[in-house]
Amino acid sequence: MRKKIVAGNWKMNKTAEEAQTLLSEVIALINDEVTGQVEVVLCPPALYLPIAVQSTLAYERISIGAQNCHEKASGAYTGEISAPMLRSIGVQYVILGHSERRQYFEETNAQLAEKVNIALENGVKPIFCCGESRDLRENGDYIAFVKNQITESLFHLSAESFANVVIAYEPIWAIGTGLTASSAQAQDMHFEIRQHIASQFGVEVAQDTTILYGGSANEKNAAELFAQPDVDGGLIGGASLKAKEFTIVVQAN
Ligand code: G3H
Repeated sequence: MRKKIVAGNWKMNKTAEEAQTLLSEVIALINDEVTGQVEVVLCPPALYLPIAVQSTLAYERISIGAQNCHEKASGAYTGEISAPMLRSIGVQYVILGHSERRQYFEETNAQLAEKVNIALENGVKPIFCCGESRDLRENGDYIAFVKNQITESLFHLSAESFANVVIAYEPIWAIGTGLTASSAQAQDMHFEIRQHIASQFGVEVAQDTTILYGGSANEKNAAELFAQPDVDGGLIGGASLKAKEFTIVVQAN
């Protein structure tokens, strides 16, 4: 049976004091109000990862994820953070290939394949993001585009390694815009992604793969999105910055 996950990507938000407050509020609310099997992955800025890991050790439901890692294990890469470092402080997940990193830091599918490798080699599970631009959605073969992102960054893996990857489908036109994909649009793409995974790794692996939706998901639309058969949770940006809203999204899964 595949895992249900709701991940909160705080992106580049919150001072140390604000981060601590949000962390405490989220932990308390999740602990008090969330029932069922859903796993919560909090992805604060890298600076706050140690405190996030320490604060959530006692909470089995909550894991901590980074927002990125470098493709090399160590070396002269000033300012970067490696997968072994993440592992060494107890980080369990890492978001890779977010569209903001693809856009602003020119991350390519090939580079992401290396990041996926180093994360997996160090026992950190990638939350691998894919998704098309608005222009592609309106004028191009956006399904082929998304499938190709997955092929080029993930299809070199063995089925055993791939089993540790979480996919996040995030249509770029829906990120931070308030314009969420309809539940039907999300389901259609998640179905395509699962078929694509099955074509490479087999039906069983595909059925066990957690595929998250991201893009203006919030406390109002989450329940409908998560009710779709191939939507196994969400990668939440804006709504993860408010403890109550985020908890409602988690509980919706
Ligand atoms: O990683 C999260 C996504 O980019 C979604 O962000 O919920 O603010 O649209 P958003």
